Amino acid sequence: MILNLATLFFALLSLASGQDLKFTFNGFRLANLTLDGIAEYTPTGLLALTNRTVQRKGHAFYPNPIPFKTSPNTSVSSFSTSFVFGIISEFQKLSGHGIVFVVAPTPALPGALASQYLGLFNETSNDDPNNHVIGVELDTIQSTEFGDINNNHVGIDINSLDSVDAHPVGYFSDENGQFQNLSLISGKAMQVWVEYDGVKKQINVTIALVGVNKPKKPILSLPRDLSPFMNQEMYVGFSSSTGSVLTSHYILGWSFRLNGEAKELDLSSLPKLPRIGPKKTSRFLTIGVPAISVVSALVLISGMFFYLKRKRKFAEVLEDWELDYGPHRFKYKELYIATKGFKDKELLGAGGFGRVYRGILPSSKIEIAVKRVSHESRQGMREFVAEIVSIGRLRHRNIVQLLGYCRRKGELLLVYDYMPNGSLDKFLYDQPDFTLNWRQRLRVIKGVASGLFYLHEEWEQVVVHRDVKASNVLLDGELNGRLGDFGLARLYDHGTDPQTTHVVGTVGYLAPEHTRTGRATTSTDVYAFGAFLLEVGCGRRPIDPRAPTEDFILVDWVFSLWSKGEILLAVDHNLGCDFVAEEVELVLKLGLLCSHSEPMARPSMRQVVRYLEGEVALPELTSLGLSAAGLTFAHREGFDEFAMSYPYTMDQAFPHSTSVAESILSGGR
Ligand SMILES: Nc1ncnc2c1ncn2[C@@H]1O[C@H](COP(=O)(O)OP(=O)(O)OP(=O)(O)O)[C@@H](O)[C@H]1O
Ligand SMILES: *[C@@H]1O[C@H](CO)[C@@H](O)[C@H](O)[C@H]1NC(C)=O
Ligand SMILES: *[C@@H]1O[C@H](CO)[C@@H](O)[C@H](O)[C@H]1NC(C)=O
Ligand SMILES: *[C@@H]1O[C@H](CO)[C@@H](O)[C@H](O)[C@H]1NC(C)=O
Ligand SMILES: *[C@@H]1O[C@H](CO)[C@@H](O)[C@H](O)[C@H]1NC(C)=O
Ligand SMILES: *[C@@H]1O[C@H](CO)[C@@H](O)[C@H](O)[C@H]1NC(C)=O
Ligand SMILES: *[C@@H]1O[C@H](CO)[C@@H](O)[C@H](O)[C@H]1NC(C)=O
Repeated sequence: MILNLATLFFALLSLASGQDLKFTFNGFRLANLTLDGIAEYTPTGLLALTNRTVQRKGHAFYPNPIPFKTSPNTSVSSFSTSFVFGIISEFQKLSGHGIVFVVAPTPALPGALASQYLGLFNETSNDDPNNHVIGVELDTIQSTEFGDINNNHVGIDINSLDSVDAHPVGYFSDENGQFQNLSLISGKAMQVWVEYDGVKKQINVTIALVGVNKPKKPILSLPRDLSPFMNQEMYVGFSSSTGSVLTSHYILGWSFRLNGEAKELDLSSLPKLPRIGPKKTSRFLTIGVPAISVVSALVLISGMFFYLKRKRKFAEVLEDWELDYGPHRFKYKELYIATKGFKDKELLGAGGFGRVYRGILPSSKIEIAVKRVSHESRQGMREFVAEIVSIGRLRHRNIVQLLGYCRRKGELLLVYDYMPNGSLDKFLYDQPDFTLNWRQRLRVIKGVASGLFYLHEEWEQVVVHRDVKASNVLLDGELNGRLGDFGLARLYDHGTDPQTTHVVGTVGYLAPEHTRTGRATTSTDVYAFGAFLLEVGCGRRPIDPRAPTEDFILVDWVFSLWSKGEILLAVDHNLGCDFVAEEVELVLKLGLLCSHSEPMARPSMRQVVRYLEGEVALPELTSLGLSAAGLTFAHREGFDEFAMSYPYTMDQAFPHSTSVAESILSGGR
């Protein structure tokens, strides 16, 4: 009775003071908490204190202070709170570090550290009586320095990470009072209740799987007067930190009330935890098995095995942020069926990024090519997928249409239009059974030029292809050249540490300034296009280790022939005499021009298209610094650039590189 009167009194008081003394968030879609560190809301309304990070912390506080005491000297009022959380880790058996429900003097915890400090304190502030911080920790790592009991415990912390009281995570069954283990890192949502009785001076903590009624007996019940540790007004919220394992800590819903029981959460309207990996189905097993005979159990089990195996076989990774990309996402199962289970028979080829399979989509009967790219790092995946989706909107008859993608653990699948004639390089090198005649080659060249021009200048934003080369030009049914393989180079750029400029591309097509600055631009694409022109005209790879030493760099060889006035000797022997000399000359000279080491001297793709169409005459190469007297297109520091272009690969793969490079760049021969 006394308690009730007190409650009523405080309730009236709170009404009078106009303070917000209770609140409930069933999901955080409309929440306005004070976020700090890396905490953020997900589009589905989860409060993500950390999102797949290591060594970071996140805080979220209710923005208004809570008047825990009516005046500085009175004792702390009763309060209660309840929240649903979920911890999702990269690994099944290891996570880090945990979530803490916090009561703190400010809506932030400045100076606090991540990892074992749980975003609460640091070396100096831990154990400091001036902290005025009270926490209920859900800790997934045993930090012996703070006397942790195990790697799966609930603890009550007062100004220190050495818990005043702690217990392994679980609950006491209402039926028989037996303790049931729970695992914080099981990836399951769980509910926690924290209650403080301001009269009995007792703090209770209870935990259960979400959806289970609150167990009657708390897991922790600590008699302690919190008054000396708390200010009159305090902030309530959550702190979380990650250690060295990629972990996400989510709060799904939260309810708080001063002087009374926190409103029950509406569990059905809470946002869902992200699905990662195959769903657990073991509960089915535990219900089904005892009910039926051994024989049918066996049948069931084998059914389950099949189901789980299938489930795992078709498991994919889908995160909240991808939901907007729905139309561009393929189901793994669909691709699996399309490619007949990624059979070797359907293998079209393998490149630097992964294997490519042919398939037929079961629903639409469209022929596709599926590229499986293994990609361990999840960093930058979001930007990359955004980019894929934007690339998917590119439409041009000289571009291989990207239809969509699918993600699995450590793997990305890209779905393209199928190109029945495969890649151009197959028609050029290694004594092909069938080669393209000059008319066809010129058509491919013009097509690729117009595709690249579209990427550079005609689309709504500038797209740098980054890996133009004969093996990335595919031929459709009518032998039109189409550029493929966009943006993949970018995936590797995103994934790498920005500190180390990691250049992606193919040796022989990389512009000198690209290797020097690590930046791909439209001019570096033009450079690669130049190498491609020479390739198609000469039927030789840009760097051909089998050629005589002084000729093994294609551009160098063509240049030397040109300077002797014999450029037509460079033409592919496979063509015989069946070519138009003026056109071959145009293509080869344009190839040299695009290979200029000075980016400013290279034409733009717009100009290239005009030269090829004969709308504008190609300028005399001599007037552009390509003079027979000396290769001034390799300007003064040229040698260093070239030497840097191939820091390891050249020396290892081509022992003569230095001398050849030197001879190109030191001026003629
Ligand atoms: N859309 C497609 N249609 C038909 N065949 C394709 C398609 N995409 C790729 N291929 C085939 O798969 C092979 C491998 O392609 P991929 O692009 O992975 O290799 P690459 O271009 O040689 O190397 P890199 O990955 O280093 O660019 C190609 O040579 C080509 O024959
Ligand atoms: C959220 O809270 C902050 C600080 O309390 C306030 O400045 C801001 O206007 C609020 N925003 C909304 C949308 O309520
Ligand atoms: C995690 O949060 C950071 C900071 O808000 C953001 O830059 C990053 O894209 C997020 N990562 C994922 C995987 O959502
Ligand atoms: C609170 O206590 C302090 C000393 O403990 C005393 O000086 C002060 O007057 C008290 N204030 C009130 C409002 O009772
Ligand atoms: C530790 O945290 C306190 C605040 O709690 C801060 O003032 C102090 O600078 C921090 N110390 C270090 C070494 O970061
Ligand atoms: C609970 O977990 C502990 C430690 O992992 C183990 O020793 C104990 O047997 C488990 N109890 C039950 C009932 O599963
Ligand atoms: C805390 O738990 C004890 C023991 O179960 C119980 O007697 C007490 O009423 C509980 N207090 C609150 C505030 O729930």
